Amino acid sequence: MGKGVLVIMVMVVALALSVVVNGGNFDQDFEITFGDGRVKKFGRGQLLTLSLDRVSGSGFRSKREYLFGRIDMQLKLVAGNSAGTVTAYYLSSEGATHDEIDFEFLGNVSGQPYTLHTNVFTKGKGGREQQFHLWFDPTSKFHTYSVAWTPRMIIFLVDNTPIRVFKNHEARGVPFPKSQPMKIYSSLWNADQWATQGGRVKTDWAKAPFTAYYRNFNVNPNHAAATAAFTDAKWQNQELNAWSRRRLRWVQKYFMIYNYCTDAQRFPKGVPRECRMF
Ligand SMILES: *[C@@H]1O[C@H](CO)[C@@H](O)[C@H](O)[C@H]1NC(C)=O
Repeated sequence: MGKGVLVIMVMVVALALSVVVNGGNFDQDFEITFGDGRVKKFGRGQLLTLSLDRVSGSGFRSKREYLFGRIDMQLKLVAGNSAGTVTAYYLSSEGATHDEIDFEFLGNVSGQPYTLHTNVFTKGKGGREQQFHLWFDPTSKFHTYSVAWTPRMIIFLVDNTPIRVFKNHEARGVPFPKSQPMKIYSSLWNADQWATQGGRVKTDWAKAPFTAYYRNFNVNPNHAAATAAFTDAKWQNQELNAWSRRRLRWVQKYFMIYNYCTDAQRFPKGVPRECRMF
């Protein structure tokens, strides 16, 4: 074997190892926020579970903060009768003028669909809700929920399909999250006052504890990391590529169940300005 080949082989092995090491580890990268024994880790930090019982829910957050990049997490949601439960998965900075990028999964009675609720807060102000049903059962297998965040836009993705895009329209007076680093948070809690079918369906505590599963957390801090969905590797030139635009339209047409941008009743004086920009 030539020396060159050996060097290359060593480099390939080193690269493979570094990829494994970069994959998230719940022991190293996260801390418990509440619920103590209800947060469990398995397989040397490869799998994490949150649970909710009558006494308390539970939650965790990342130790580090992130500013831009692509953040992936695989979740398997509370199965069976999950009515009244909410599994929140979000990025947030701190303080009164914080920014936030939200996924919230609202449970339902057995056989009825979860609602995926999304929101974007900028400078402490949210009110930008979009809700979706999913095209699969999110309780039977793990699915990947991602945020691709660059100075140009925020994309919410489900299994690599963009479901929502929030573009940077700062030049036209709409604040955009770009200077406050965020931590990653998740929690499982009881919200049966409002979560399921408008609060009509309550949590069935006979089914407790309720459990949600997490694995394969991954952060790529590079702006260009989100490029799978983009036309260009440079974030300055990014637009969604044709496949992603098609998927986004498909989701918005068949699975979107609420969009603040089309809620004329809620905004009698006109919908927020970003709704009129593309
Ligand atoms: C629960 O199921 C009902 C009926 O299919 C549906 O309208 C609703 O959006 C679902 N999700 C929630 C959170 O209520």
